[in-house]
Amino acid sequence: MASEKSSLAPLIGVPIGPYRIDPKSAGSTDSLHLSVIVPTYRESKNIAEMVRRLTELLDRAFPHRYEIIVVDDNSPDRTWELAHRLTADYPSLRVMRREHERGLSTAVIRGWQAARGDILAVIDADLQHPPEVTLDLCKVMDRGADIAVATRYIEGGGVSDWSIFRRFISRGAQLIGLVVLPGVVGRVTDPMSGYFMVRRSAIQGVDLHPLGYKILIEVLGRGQCRWIGEVPYVFRERDHGESKVTRTVYVDYLRHLLRLRFSALPISRFVRFAAVGCSGVVVDMGLLFLLSDPTMLGWGLTRSKLIASEVALINNFVWNDAWTFGDISARQLGAKDRLRRFAKFQLICLAGLVLNTVLLNLQFNLLGMNRYVANAVAIIVVTGWNFWLNLKLSWRVADPARKP
Ligand code: GDD
Ligand code: MN
Repeated sequence: MASEKSSLAPLIGVPIGPYRIDPKSAGSTDSLHLSVIVPTYRESKNIAEMVRRLTELLDRAFPHRYEIIVVDDNSPDRTWELAHRLTADYPSLRVMRREHERGLSTAVIRGWQAARGDILAVIDADLQHPPEVTLDLCKVMDRGADIAVATRYIEGGGVSDWSIFRRFISRGAQLIGLVVLPGVVGRVTDPMSGYFMVRRSAIQGVDLHPLGYKILIEVLGRGQCRWIGEVPYVFRERDHGESKVTRTVYVDYLRHLLRLRFSALPISRFVRFAAVGCSGVVVDMGLLFLLSDPTMLGWGLTRSKLIASEVALINNFVWNDAWTFGDISARQLGAKDRLRRFAKFQLICLAGLVLNTVLLNLQFNLLGMNRYVANAVAIIVVTGWNFWLNLKLSWRVADPARKP
């Protein structure tokens, strides 16, 4: 027993703290090409066959350059112990036993945090994801993709004999995702897939906030995945054990979508934009007083207002370019770029001025609203208009780092 014990690889320590994948230290001696995470919960009847088939494939494709990491959540059927025993026969196998955390997505990320590969993969332990497809995913990654996803929904893919109900649920979940988070869910044909590979560089240093089962939308939503590749696979039926998908998985999925949706909203950027807008109001009012007040220069109201508005607009552009959107303009430093941004900013804000006046008149003359309340509503609406259009058209459109 003692000799058997000594030939077992030690269990991997469970990472704690934020779910963040670190870059590998440059030139680290133990770096590998590929790390495949196999999350398990009550998979005692599947894990040996899974490890055998995966090892056979990867020994041929990447001898000594890969690792398989089983991340078990202290399964009652002691899957972790069975997997641990297997390490005596499979030198590329490592095992993590989590006793204080539970969940598919967090298991995958803890596994990736302990991983040594440049490419980080995940595959289910129950052989419903055919291990052979791993090589197809590797080929896509070798061609330079940031992420390669095994999908059931392209030519050659499918699900074995899912009930109509399960198909309906899976497709329904996808549809909801397309409505709530089109920019993420719409980038792949199978956003529910739990079988994919991602390049470490695409997600390193990013604070991930995994929830429930759907790790793919978390990676797509927060990572820098510019090039996405897909390969077909047929989702097979289980031979042993049963799915752990419960109602909470679907509730978690909806919560996850909403959290990604709101985290994608540039709330802090909008607050900065509004603060700059307030400074513009002070400049506008101050200049209007200096130019048009009888006790000051006493110029005509319209001339004073036009000059005051234009100076306020320049004030707002300078602050927005340096502060609100400073991180984006820092990537577009040319004078011509800046002039282009200013011209667009000017046009969008002038259109906003027209919209402001129209809204004010509609509310005051048509709806009989109090003029100051109507003006406040118009200013709020137009601030949103100015922010969103300037973000998209003046700053982000030419941002070299923007996601495709
Ligand atoms: N560590 C850990 N902790 N592993 C878990 C947990 C958990 O709480 N829950 C499930 N797993 C493991 C299972 O042991 C299995 O290896 C894998 O995650 C998938 O779990 P299943 O319960 O078999 O999920 P499914 O087959 O119904 O759905 C899977 O396939 C779909 C298509 O790829 C999941 O991967 C879905 O996310 C995926 O959409
Ligand atoms: Mn399964």
